[in-house]
Amino acid sequence: MKVAQLAALLVSLTPAALADWPEAEGKTIRYTPVPGYFLQDKPDTDPSGFDYASVNFGLIERSYPTDKRFDPQGERSQWERFEHWLQYLNAGCNRDGGVQYKMLFIGRHGQGWHNAAESFYGTPAWNCYWAEQQGNGTAIWADAHTTPAGDLESYKANAYFKERYDQDNMPRFSSYYSSPLTRCTITANLTFGDMEEAGYLPEEHPFVPVVKEGFREGMTVHTCNHRSDRSYIEAMFPWYRFEAGFTEEDELWRSYESETGEAHDARSKAVLDEVFRGADGDSGAWVSITTHSGAATRLLKALGHRPFRLSTGQIIPVLVKAEAVELQPEPTFVAHEPYSTCTSPPITSIPGEGCVCSATTALSSLVPSATASGL
Ligand SMILES: *[C@@H]1O[C@H](CO)[C@@H](O)[C@H](O)[C@H]1NC(C)=O
Ligand SMILES: *[C@@H]1O[C@H](CO)[C@@H](O)[C@H](O)[C@H]1NC(C)=O
Repeated sequence: MKVAQLAALLVSLTPAALADWPEAEGKTIRYTPVPGYFLQDKPDTDPSGFDYASVNFGLIERSYPTDKRFDPQGERSQWERFEHWLQYLNAGCNRDGGVQYKMLFIGRHGQGWHNAAESFYGTPAWNCYWAEQQGNGTAIWADAHTTPAGDLESYKANAYFKERYDQDNMPRFSSYYSSPLTRCTITANLTFGDMEEAGYLPEEHPFVPVVKEGFREGMTVHTCNHRSDRSYIEAMFPWYRFEAGFTEEDELWRSYESETGEAHDARSKAVLDEVFRGADGDSGAWVSITTHSGAATRLLKALGHRPFRLSTGQIIPVLVKAEAVELQPEPTFVAHEPYSTCTSPPITSIPGEGCVCSATTALSSLVPSATASGL
């Protein structure tokens, strides 16, 4: 092999090699959110009605120990100084190989047709009947697309990021991840898809999200949680990447029983581990994740963050400290549980009282049947 060829080979191998976290090999990763930097960490910040876009994503105005040397004249923005502090924590002689910090931005997709339908029918009737259907003849919510209102939420995020980039030189993301469900692949694209052309992104970090099963919503029997085929996602977003082993068809979702909360918790921890271990060849501290309400709740729990429910289109930043610790035993849990439904539209749907099936059709556990057709 010629030297030039060898050099080219080495260059092509470098990103994956760099992305590894060797000190964490064979160890368990423990996460803690680092408080004191974002409003969302504070117990007295009310999540309901909280809007990232009215408070600079929640970044607290304060000084950092590195300010003095980095910004003696006091000319740098809060984001620039924060980024420098984060670099300091991760780099150089301060670096303890067993510790790593990342700045995760966990976003919920813009409103989807399934969200609109849940409001339209009321949650009890939605859960016990309508969510198991593909749609209602007017709207389709199997692997729901976003509504026009949902797209406005993504355009708002797009504009807000650009404003922060323009005004504060907010750091750009080093990697992007998305749930494979269409409402997320669309939201990620409308939020970041035009940034490169508009000159906002550095060449080395283009908007090329990695689609990962671990970021999908809790797999209830609801058809909105059944993903489309890989080739469907590829046709819509040819430049997205897929994690290794991503199958053509959805082999995880079941039409007749639901993923348990414990299984979702374990999956959330596992996908975070992949991100921190650099399993997809990504390294870098600034991470964007486009996911779902339930999934965001589970991710925050896996990180040890206080509960912070996101409404559609909302985004929460979390500064995470990850430590490689002694290998812990994996929790054991039941992966699936039955789910009761009505076999025809229910007669009542009263919040707090639940859903009452019509007299002729008793509440019944779903039997295995044809799954949602790949829409
Ligand atoms: C179907 O659901 C949507 C809400 O997603 C609602 O606007 C529409 O009126 C419903 N169609 C019918 C026929 O009930
Ligand atoms: C992706 O986003 C760009 C920029 O907003 C938009 O022009 C394009 O239509 C989007 N593609 C899809 C498939 O939604």
